[in-house]
Amino acid sequence: MLPVVVAAVCAQGMIFATSAVAQEKGKIPLPVPRKVDFVKEVYPIFKTSCFKCHGPEKQKGKYRMDTREGAFKETSDHGPAIIAGNSEKSAIVLMVANQIDEMLMPPPGGKPGESDPLTAEQIGILRAWIDQGAIWPDGPIQEEVKLVGFETEIKPVLTAACAKCHSGATAEGNFSVDSLATVLEGGKGYGKVIAPGDPAKSSLITILTGKDEDIPKPEVHKLTAKEVNLITEWIRQGAK
Ligand code: HEC
Ligand code: HEC
Repeated sequence: MLPVVVAAVCAQGMIFATSAVAQEKGKIPLPVPRKVDFVKEVYPIFKTSCFKCHGPEKQKGKYRMDTREGAFKETSDHGPAIIAGNSEKSAIVLMVANQIDEMLMPPPGGKPGESDPLTAEQIGILRAWIDQGAIWPDGPIQEEVKLVGFETEIKPVLTAACAKCHSGATAEGNFSVDSLATVLEGGKGYGKVIAPGDPAKSSLITILTGKDEDIPKPEVHKLTAKEVNLITEWIRQGAK
Protein backbone atom coordinates (compact mmCIF):
# COMPACT_ATOMS: atom_id res chain seq x y z
CA MET A 1 0.00 0.00 0.00
CA LEU A 2 2.71 2.47 0.96
CA PRO A 3 4.60 2.56 -2.41
CA VAL A 4 1.34 3.37 -4.23
CA VAL A 5 0.64 6.41 -2.04
CA VAL A 6 4.19 7.71 -2.44
CA ALA A 7 4.09 7.20 -6.23
CA ALA A 8 0.84 9.15 -6.52
CA VAL A 9 2.25 12.10 -4.56
CA CYS A 10 5.45 12.10 -6.65
CA ALA A 11 3.54 12.01 -9.91
CA GLN A 12 1.51 15.03 -8.88
CA GLY A 13 4.62 16.79 -7.72
CA MET A 14 6.10 16.42 -11.20
CA ILE A 15 3.03 17.71 -12.99
CA PHE A 16 2.55 20.73 -10.77
CA ALA A 17 5.59 22.79 -9.89
CA THR A 18 4.77 22.54 -6.20
CA SER A 19 3.03 19.63 -4.56
CA ALA A 20 -0.64 19.49 -5.44
CA VAL A 21 -1.54 18.88 -1.83
CA ALA A 22 0.26 22.00 -0.70
CA GLN A 23 -1.37 24.05 -3.43
CA GLU A 24 -4.82 23.03 -2.39
CA LYS A 25 -4.28 23.72 1.21
CA GLY A 26 -1.94 26.66 1.32
CA LYS A 27 1.66 26.94 2.32
CA ILE A 28 3.32 25.52 5.38
CA PRO A 29 4.34 28.33 7.74
CA LEU A 30 8.07 29.06 7.49
CA PRO A 31 10.56 27.99 10.15
CA VAL A 32 11.23 30.74 12.68
CA PRO A 33 14.56 32.39 11.80
CA ARG A 34 16.36 31.68 15.06
CA LYS A 35 17.84 28.88 17.12
CA VAL A 36 15.12 27.07 19.03
CA ASP A 37 15.41 25.14 22.26
CA PHE A 38 13.74 21.74 22.39
CA VAL A 39 13.04 21.61 26.12
CA LYS A 40 11.79 25.19 26.41
CA GLU A 41 9.94 25.57 23.14
CA VAL A 42 9.19 22.31 21.33
CA TYR A 43 8.43 19.83 24.09
CA PRO A 44 5.81 22.16 25.63
CA ILE A 45 3.98 22.22 22.26
CA PHE A 46 3.97 18.42 22.14
CA LYS A 47 2.84 18.31 25.73
CA THR A 48 -0.05 20.72 25.34
CA SER A 49 -1.29 19.63 21.93
CA CYS A 50 -0.30 16.01 21.38
CA PHE A 51 0.37 13.97 24.54
CA LYS A 52 -3.30 13.56 25.36
CA CYS A 53 -3.50 11.15 22.43
CA HIS A 54 0.16 10.28 21.83
CA GLY A 55 1.61 10.11 25.33
CA PRO A 56 2.03 7.63 28.16
CA GLU A 57 -1.69 6.88 28.44
CA LYS A 58 -2.95 6.74 24.85
CA GLN A 59 -1.12 6.07 21.61
CA LYS A 60 -3.63 6.88 18.88
CA GLY A 61 -2.48 5.58 15.51
CA LYS A 62 0.13 3.59 17.53
CA TYR A 63 2.16 6.77 17.78
CA ARG A 64 3.77 7.90 21.01
CA MET A 65 5.72 11.12 21.14
CA ASP A 66 6.84 11.62 24.71
CA THR A 67 9.97 9.56 24.05
CA ARG A 68 12.57 10.11 21.35
CA GLU A 69 12.26 6.55 20.03
CA GLY A 70 8.50 6.91 19.72
CA ALA A 71 8.51 10.40 18.26
CA PHE A 72 10.92 9.56 15.42
CA LYS A 73 9.16 6.45 14.23
CA GLU A 74 8.02 5.73 10.68
CA THR A 75 4.33 6.56 10.42
CA SER A 76 2.03 3.96 8.93
CA ASP A 77 1.36 5.79 5.65
CA HIS A 78 3.28 9.04 5.51
CA GLY A 79 6.97 8.36 5.95
CA PRO A 80 9.06 9.15 9.02
CA ALA A 81 7.34 11.34 11.58
CA ILE A 82 10.48 13.46 11.96
CA ILE A 83 13.35 13.70 9.46
CA ALA A 84 16.20 15.60 11.10
CA GLY A 85 17.21 18.45 8.79
CA ASN A 86 14.11 18.25 6.62
CA SER A 87 11.03 19.72 8.22
CA GLU A 88 9.22 19.99 4.90
CA LYS A 89 9.10 16.21 4.52
CA SER A 90 8.51 15.36 8.16
CA ALA A 91 5.06 13.82 8.62
CA ILE A 92 4.32 15.66 11.86
CA VAL A 93 4.88 19.03 10.16
CA LEU A 94 2.72 18.05 7.18
CA MET A 95 0.02 16.93 9.60
CA VAL A 96 -0.03 19.96 11.89
CA ALA A 97 -0.01 22.22 8.81
CA ASN A 98 -3.00 20.34 7.31
CA GLN A 99 -1.11 19.16 4.24
CA ILE A 100 -2.34 15.57 4.36
CA ASP A 101 -6.01 14.82 3.79
CA GLU A 102 -7.91 13.79 6.89
CA MET A 103 -4.75 13.86 8.99
CA LEU A 104 -4.81 17.33 10.52
CA MET A 105 -3.23 17.06 13.99
CA PRO A 106 -4.58 17.64 16.53
CA PRO A 107 -7.74 16.33 14.85
CA PRO A 108 -10.46 18.99 14.67
CA GLY A 109 -13.73 18.55 16.45
CA GLY A 110 -12.40 17.12 19.68
CA LYS A 111 -13.20 18.54 23.08
CA PRO A 112 -12.49 22.26 23.47
CA GLY A 113 -8.83 22.77 24.24
CA GLU A 114 -7.88 19.38 22.76
CA SER A 115 -8.28 20.27 19.14
CA ASP A 116 -6.93 23.80 18.78
CA PRO A 117 -4.74 23.82 15.66
CA LEU A 118 -1.13 24.84 16.12
CA THR A 119 -0.43 28.48 15.35
CA ALA A 120 1.88 29.50 12.50
CA GLU A 121 4.46 30.46 15.14
CA GLN A 122 4.26 27.00 16.77
CA ILE A 123 4.62 25.27 13.40
CA GLY A 124 7.56 27.59 12.64
CA ILE A 125 9.20 26.57 15.94
CA LEU A 126 8.67 22.89 15.17
CA ARG A 127 10.13 23.32 11.68
CA ALA A 128 13.15 25.27 12.91
CA TRP A 129 13.87 22.57 15.50
CA ILE A 130 13.71 19.81 12.86
CA ASP A 131 15.78 21.80 10.35
CA GLN A 132 18.37 22.51 13.04
CA GLY A 133 18.88 18.77 13.51
CA ALA A 134 15.91 17.72 15.66
CA ILE A 135 18.07 17.40 18.75
CA TRP A 136 16.31 15.55 21.55
CA PRO A 137 18.41 15.24 24.70
CA ASP A 138 18.98 11.84 26.31
CA GLY A 139 16.90 10.76 29.25
CA PRO A 140 13.72 12.18 30.73
CA ILE A 141 12.99 15.79 29.82
CA GLN A 142 13.56 18.11 32.76
CA GLU A 143 10.98 20.79 32.31
CA GLU A 144 11.51 24.10 33.96
CA VAL A 145 8.66 24.54 36.36
CA LYS A 146 7.29 28.03 36.33
CA LEU A 147 6.56 29.08 39.88
CA VAL A 148 3.12 30.52 40.44
CA GLY A 149 3.36 33.52 42.76
CA PHE A 150 0.63 34.68 45.14
CA GLU A 151 1.14 38.40 44.72
CA THR A 152 1.58 38.38 40.96
CA GLU A 153 -0.85 35.69 39.83
CA ILE A 154 -3.21 34.47 42.55
CA LYS A 155 -4.10 37.65 44.39
CA PRO A 156 -5.36 39.46 41.27
CA VAL A 157 -7.73 36.54 40.54
CA LEU A 158 -9.04 36.40 44.11
CA THR A 159 -9.35 40.16 44.37
CA ALA A 160 -11.40 40.39 41.18
CA ALA A 161 -13.68 37.45 42.00
CA CYS A 162 -13.96 37.46 45.78
CA ALA A 163 -12.88 40.72 47.44
CA LYS A 164 -16.26 42.40 47.28
CA CYS A 165 -17.53 39.86 49.85
CA HIS A 166 -14.28 38.60 51.39
CA SER A 167 -12.25 41.63 52.39
CA GLY A 168 -11.55 43.56 55.57
CA ALA A 169 -13.40 43.33 58.87
CA THR A 170 -16.77 42.52 57.30
CA ALA A 171 -15.51 39.57 55.22
CA GLU A 172 -18.21 36.91 54.79
CA GLY A 173 -17.49 33.92 57.01
CA ASN A 174 -14.42 35.79 58.26
CA PHE A 175 -12.60 34.63 55.13
CA SER A 176 -10.52 37.41 53.62
CA VAL A 177 -8.51 37.43 50.41
CA ASP A 178 -6.57 40.52 51.48
CA SER A 179 -3.25 38.76 51.95
CA LEU A 180 -1.51 35.42 51.66
CA ALA A 181 -1.75 35.06 55.45
CA THR A 182 -5.54 35.59 55.60
CA VAL A 183 -6.11 33.25 52.64
CA LEU A 184 -4.08 30.51 54.35
CA GLU A 185 -5.84 31.14 57.65
CA GLY A 186 -9.26 30.29 56.19
CA GLY A 187 -12.67 31.24 57.59
CA LYS A 188 -14.80 30.76 60.69
CA GLY A 189 -16.92 27.89 59.34
CA TYR A 190 -14.47 25.98 57.15
CA GLY A 191 -11.24 26.71 58.95
CA LYS A 192 -8.27 26.24 56.65
CA VAL A 193 -9.31 25.72 53.03
CA ILE A 194 -5.79 25.22 51.68
CA ALA A 195 -3.43 22.31 52.38
CA PRO A 196 -0.14 23.56 50.90
CA GLY A 197 1.26 20.97 48.50
CA ASP A 198 -1.96 18.98 48.36
CA PRO A 199 -4.73 20.35 46.12
CA ALA A 200 -6.82 17.18 46.65
CA LYS A 201 -7.06 17.97 50.38
CA SER A 202 -7.77 21.66 49.81
CA SER A 203 -11.48 22.39 50.16
CA LEU A 204 -10.95 25.67 48.30
CA ILE A 205 -10.68 23.70 45.05
CA THR A 206 -13.94 21.90 45.79
CA ILE A 207 -15.58 25.27 46.41
CA LEU A 208 -14.16 26.90 43.28
CA THR A 209 -15.17 24.03 41.00
CA GLY A 210 -18.78 24.16 42.23
CA LYS A 211 -18.54 20.77 43.93
CA ASP A 212 -19.11 22.00 47.48
CA GLU A 213 -22.78 21.49 48.19
CA ASP A 214 -22.80 23.44 51.45
CA ILE A 215 -21.30 26.74 50.36
CA PRO A 216 -23.88 29.54 50.13
CA LYS A 217 -24.25 31.15 46.68
CA PRO A 218 -22.32 28.45 44.79
CA GLU A 219 -22.59 30.47 41.56
CA VAL A 220 -20.40 33.30 42.92
CA HIS A 221 -17.86 30.75 44.11
CA LYS A 222 -17.17 29.16 40.73
CA LEU A 223 -14.09 30.21 38.82
CA THR A 224 -13.11 29.37 35.23
CA ALA A 225 -11.21 26.14 34.54
CA LYS A 226 -8.14 28.20 33.70
CA GLU A 227 -8.26 30.06 37.00
CA VAL A 228 -8.85 26.85 38.96
CA ASN A 229 -5.89 25.22 37.19
CA LEU A 230 -3.68 28.14 38.16
CA ILE A 231 -4.77 28.01 41.81
CA THR A 232 -4.38 24.22 41.84
CA GLU A 233 -0.82 24.53 40.53
CA TRP A 234 -0.07 27.24 43.10
CA ILE A 235 -1.29 24.97 45.92
CA ARG A 236 0.62 22.01 44.47
CA GLN A 237 3.80 24.13 44.58
CA GLY A 238 3.24 24.86 48.26
CA ALA A 239 0.92 27.92 48.21
CA LYS A 240 3.61 30.55 48.69
C1 HEC B 1 -7.50 14.09 20.24
C2 HEC B 1 -6.51 13.11 19.89
C3 HEC B 1 -5.26 13.51 19.11
C4 HEC B 1 -4.42 14.56 19.35
C5 HEC B 1 -4.53 15.64 20.41
C6 HEC B 1 -3.34 14.42 18.40
N1 HEC B 1 -3.53 13.32 17.62
FE1 HEC B 1 -2.25 12.58 16.21
N2 HEC B 1 -3.51 11.03 15.86
C7 HEC B 1 -4.75 10.87 16.44
C8 HEC B 1 -5.42 9.74 15.82
C9 HEC B 1 -6.82 9.24 16.15
C10 HEC B 1 -4.53 9.23 14.86
C11 HEC B 1 -4.76 8.07 13.90
C12 HEC B 1 -5.40 8.67 12.68
C13 HEC B 1 -5.47 7.74 11.51
O1 HEC B 1 -4.61 6.87 11.39
O2 HEC B 1 -6.37 7.96 10.68
C14 HEC B 1 -3.34 10.06 14.92
C15 HEC B 1 -2.22 9.85 14.12
C16 HEC B 1 -1.08 10.64 14.17
C17 HEC B 1 0.13 10.36 13.42
C18 HEC B 1 0.35 9.20 12.47
C19 HEC B 1 0.83 7.97 13.23
C20 HEC B 1 1.03 6.81 12.28
O3 HEC B 1 1.93 6.00 12.49
O4 HEC B 1 0.27 6.71 11.31
C21 HEC B 1 1.02 11.36 13.73
C22 HEC B 1 2.44 11.51 13.20
C23 HEC B 1 0.35 12.25 14.66
N3 HEC B 1 -0.90 11.78 14.92
C24 HEC B 1 0.91 13.39 15.17
C25 HEC B 1 0.28 14.24 16.07
C26 HEC B 1 0.88 15.45 16.57
C27 HEC B 1 2.23 15.99 16.16
C28 HEC B 1 -0.02 15.98 17.44
C29 HEC B 1 0.11 17.28 18.23
C30 HEC B 1 0.46 18.46 17.48
C31 HEC B 1 -1.17 15.11 17.49
N4 HEC B 1 -0.95 14.07 16.63
C32 HEC B 1 -2.27 15.30 18.29
C33 HEC B 1 -5.27 11.60 17.47
C34 HEC B 1 -4.69 12.73 18.01
C1 HEC C 1 -21.34 37.84 46.49
C2 HEC C 1 -20.54 37.57 47.66
C3 HEC C 1 -19.48 36.47 47.59
C4 HEC C 1 -18.50 36.31 46.67
C5 HEC C 1 -18.23 37.15 45.42
C6 HEC C 1 -17.69 35.21 47.12
N1 HEC C 1 -18.20 34.72 48.29
FE1 HEC C 1 -17.36 33.29 49.42
N2 HEC C 1 -18.90 33.39 50.72
C7 HEC C 1 -19.96 34.25 50.62
C8 HEC C 1 -20.90 33.98 51.67
C9 HEC C 1 -22.21 34.72 51.92
C10 HEC C 1 -20.35 32.95 52.44
C11 HEC C 1 -20.92 32.30 53.68
C12 HEC C 1 -20.40 33.02 54.89
C13 HEC C 1 -20.93 32.46 56.18
O1 HEC C 1 -21.14 31.25 56.26
O2 HEC C 1 -21.10 33.25 57.09
C14 HEC C 1 -19.09 32.60 51.80
C15 HEC C 1 -18.22 31.64 52.29
C16 HEC C 1 -16.98 31.39 51.77
C17 HEC C 1 -16.01 30.53 52.37
C18 HEC C 1 -16.15 29.78 53.67
C19 HEC C 1 -15.77 30.69 54.81
C20 HEC C 1 -15.93 30.03 56.15
O3 HEC C 1 -17.03 30.14 56.71
O4 HEC C 1 -14.98 29.40 56.61
C21 HEC C 1 -14.92 30.54 51.56
C22 HEC C 1 -13.62 29.78 51.76
C23 HEC C 1 -15.21 31.42 50.47
N3 HEC C 1 -16.47 31.92 50.61
C24 HEC C 1 -14.33 31.67 49.44
C25 HEC C 1 -14.62 32.51 48.39
C26 HEC C 1 -13.74 32.72 47.28
C27 HEC C 1 -12.37 32.10 47.13
C28 HEC C 1 -14.37 33.57 46.45
C29 HEC C 1 -13.90 34.09 45.11
C30 HEC C 1 -13.67 33.08 44.10
C31 HEC C 1 -15.65 33.88 47.02
N4 HEC C 1 -15.77 33.22 48.19
C32 HEC C 1 -16.57 34.77 46.46
C33 HEC C 1 -20.12 35.23 49.66
C34 HEC C 1 -19.30 35.44 48.59
